Amino acid sequence: MIKINNLTKTYFDENNNNYHALNNISLEIEDGDIFGIIGMSGAGKTTLIRCLSHLEQPDSGAIFIGETNIADVNNKKLKSVFKKMGVVFQGYNLLEQENIYDNIAFPLKINNIKEDAIKKRVHELLNLVNLADKEKSYPSKLSGGQKQRVAIARALASSPEILLCDEPTSALDPLTTKSILDLLLKINEKYKTTIVIITHEIRLIKMICDKVAVISAGKIVENGAVEDVFLNPRNDITKMLIKEGL
Ligand SMILES: Nc1ncnc2c1ncn2[C@@H]1O[C@H](COP(=O)(O)OP(=O)(O)OP(=O)(O)O)[C@@H](O)[C@H]1O
Ligand SMILES: [Mg+2]
Repeated sequence: MIKINNLTKTYFDENNNNYHALNNISLEIEDGDIFGIIGMSGAGKTTLIRCLSHLEQPDSGAIFIGETNIADVNNKKLKSVFKKMGVVFQGYNLLEQENIYDNIAFPLKINNIKEDAIKKRVHELLNLVNLADKEKSYPSKLSGGQKQRVAIARALASSPEILLCDEPTSALDPLTTKSILDLLLKINEKYKTTIVIITHEIRLIKMICDKVAVISAGKIVENGAVEDVFLNPRNDITKMLIKEGL
């Protein structure tokens, strides 16, 4: 279970004006959920996922992964908790100088996993994401959908229990989007991975999420089961997102 309590993050611009990118966010995500977080550009989605993946330190609040509060930098269990998390970044963030095999192997190499075990795992993942024939290719030779599948395979390398995906299909056409979403569904079903998807696209939420939270100006304005929230939207932002998504 991921439990976010009263999370805040404030940024300051060059004129020292403050901006509440996350303004008292509380949210619960249960094990095995495919949980969508939807909001418009600038709503705070990437900031939230960066706090969840420890790339950003919140100003206050707590993020419990199981029993461990990862917003507490002094917590000694942080490292073992982060091994349970994989992140697919907005934009693919692949290593352009490395081939696909080495991109996927990267998190395993830095964790000193033995060469044989790495080879076995990378080949498993290449098969899972349907890129077995591309292991020697370099990222520049791949399509956007293929790069996204490499990014997903890399995020899964250490067999995480939680997969965080920031706009996993925003640059992709509808058919490729469907293939990526089918892959995420397969991962959720096969490994019971909890998947958190950040997006601004309502159709993506409708296609694979069980639950959804709507974020606007750093606040969660509505959340619940996808059909409840979309059939009975209460907040104006939710209504607008639904209207735009038709
Ligand atoms: N490092 C930073 N310094 C200052 N302000 C920032 C920083 N990162 C984000 N912000 C601001 O915080 C707000 C939230 O940004 P964030 O990247 O979380 O939005 P987002 O919902 O992911 O948007 P998008 O859909 O465009 O990716 C924005 O107003 C942004 O300008
Ligand atoms: Mg973003």
